[in-house]
Amino acid sequence: MDITKNETETQKLAENIAEKVKKGGVICLFGDLGSGKTTFAKGFAKALGIDSFSVKSPTYTYIRDYPLGKNKFYHIDLYRLETIDELLLQEIEEFLINEKNVIIIEWADKLKDYLPKKRIDICLEYLDENSRKINVFEQNE
Ligand SMILES: Nc1ncnc2c1ncn2[C@@H]1O[C@H](COP(=O)(O)OP(=O)(O)OP(=O)(O)O)[C@@H](O)[C@H]1O
Ligand SMILES: [Mg+2]
Repeated sequence: MDITKNETETQKLAENIAEKVKKGGVICLFGDLGSGKTTFAKGFAKALGIDSFSVKSPTYTYIRDYPLGKNKFYHIDLYRLETIDELLLQEIEEFLINEKNVIIIEWADKLKDYLPKKRIDICLEYLDENSRKINVFEQNE
């Protein structure tokens, strides 16, 4: 368990996690609005060397992909997703198959049972304006 005191500390934690999965892996982010999921994702992408990482766009999409060596880095944000549809699920499953891809998922709880068994869960909690409690769980079952 970590308590971060500002955005930079959360991003530093994300960098440490990125180090573990830079050759492939799935990171699931859980936490309420403003708990720091996107902040974490930004630090994570930066640590992977993704310069073009962007969370803003005129047309909202759930999935953004970025080249990562011979593979890809995917940032998925399911905030606006109400129900999982077959098409989106198929798309996500397609790139989950390649274990060398690096995938980070905001609001991962919306994928429920479809999450891969091997993944790292990051649970973020708002404590006060500048503090967040962050728990990391490595799942493999
Ligand atoms: N210790 C901290 N770690 C992360 N963010 C922090 C921290 N302290 C303050 N903040 C601020 O909290 C906000 C977190 O917003 P962020 O967009 O990362 O959250 P989110 O979980 O992605 O929210 P949403 O679900 O609405 O997308 C930012 O404005 C950030 O500057
Ligand atoms: Mg967000």
